[in-house]
Amino acid sequence: SAVGLGNIWRFPSEAGEGGGGIFLIIYLALAFFVGFPIMVGEISMGRAAGSDAYGAYRNLSPKRQWGIVGLFGILCGFMILSFYNVVAGWAFGYFIQIGFGDLLSTPKSEFGNYFGAYASDFTDNLVYSIVFMVLTAIIVMRGVKGGIETASKVLMPLLFVILIGLIVYTLTLDGAMAGVKAYLTPDFSKLEFSTLFGAAGQAFFSLSLGMGALITYGSYFGREQNILSSTAIVIVADVSVAFLAGMLIFPLVALQGGDMAAGPGLVFVALPGVFQEMGPVLGKVVGGGFFLLLCFAALTSTISLLEVPVAYFVDEKKWPRRTTVMVLAAVIFLIGLPSMLSLGAVDWLTNFSFYEGKSKEFLTVIDDVFSTASLPLGGALMSIYIAYQWKMKNFADEVQHGVNRPFKGSFIYKYISFMLMFVCPLLLFTIFLGKVFGMLGITLF
Ligand code: TRP
Repeated sequence: SAVGLGNIWRFPSEAGEGGGGIFLIIYLALAFFVGFPIMVGEISMGRAAGSDAYGAYRNLSPKRQWGIVGLFGILCGFMILSFYNVVAGWAFGYFIQIGFGDLLSTPKSEFGNYFGAYASDFTDNLVYSIVFMVLTAIIVMRGVKGGIETASKVLMPLLFVILIGLIVYTLTLDGAMAGVKAYLTPDFSKLEFSTLFGAAGQAFFSLSLGMGALITYGSYFGREQNILSSTAIVIVADVSVAFLAGMLIFPLVALQGGDMAAGPGLVFVALPGVFQEMGPVLGKVVGGGFFLLLCFAALTSTISLLEVPVAYFVDEKKWPRRTTVMVLAAVIFLIGLPSMLSLGAVDWLTNFSFYEGKSKEFLTVIDDVFSTASLPLGGALMSIYIAYQWKMKNFADEVQHGVNRPFKGSFIYKYISFMLMFVCPLLLFTIFLGKVFGMLGITLF
């Protein structure tokens, strides 16, 4: 669920808008120091309740009205998947255009226009994103298991290795170092509160936190599994992939004289450059392969997003699984159409709103509302729920299963409690407010 388009498509673009190095530091700090307690909390809730996001909030404490937080998370999952599927469709289209089409014979200076034309071409987008949603639906229908797990174990490490290979190759090219510098040297003069909001939203998005995806996955966790070490592994792996994506995209953009704040098309404009350098044959193979792996990474994330509302309707409303999947996939696909049309195809969706000094596509607005603002809000509410409704004692008892040493009283427990009781609610709620006011054109901080 964690590694996906969030790491390779969303992270470089957020880091670019956030000013590079300074964003990276804040992102890393949030992913480790806030992401860890929140993820342990979210998975524990799911495993303790053994139910979907709504059921977990409803059943772990006597105050049943908390269920509404679960419902809000399910809504966020709906909305995130609606545009995520569009971007996954682009990745699929680029796999075809690079592997079998003429994309790499386009001059470098035209990659931007190529993406522009591609994203505003309705038919291709429609076909590829339907393919993507259908694949997601088929897998979720069968239950998340089996083949996908085996495939992930091979394909995700492979993506990791290719990423490293591409970075090494790119860094040998003239002019790449300027990108590395922009990425790794924090420029404190670029530090603004909006950097904090972007970094928090990105950390939550990338780690799949704050909307119940990991409550749902946690409900499939066994009692013998160690939630602490699983969480640590997931965070390190996820952050590493994002970090590497930055190590690739920043240098490529520097090489090609592009703009890191180019928005949702950034990596689609930057990435073909490295494959073109490799020559026509190798470029097609490596480039096609890379985008295919990226599609797989996206697929393992769309599965987790669709699973959240599906689990709700199956567990709570007793709908049959197959019908639920088909209905929800269709509805989410339709909700995604305006996002699909917002990269040039339809003018008013392309210039849907204006805030933070920029005109924003519909896709970006939905992403800002349901990820950057809502996921930290979900995290704030979840911390409050765990600390003051479910109670730290019950949380500690749940985490203890699968952990050999006594958890309660340990340093990790003290750290997590302190974060869930005080820091996360305050910090994350402030971030939520700051982002919302920023979008309304009101600068709070
Ligand atoms: N984390 C995934 C990515 O980085 C996207 C994702 C999957 C997600 N499930 C989620 C984001 C739940 C937020 C909430 O691509």
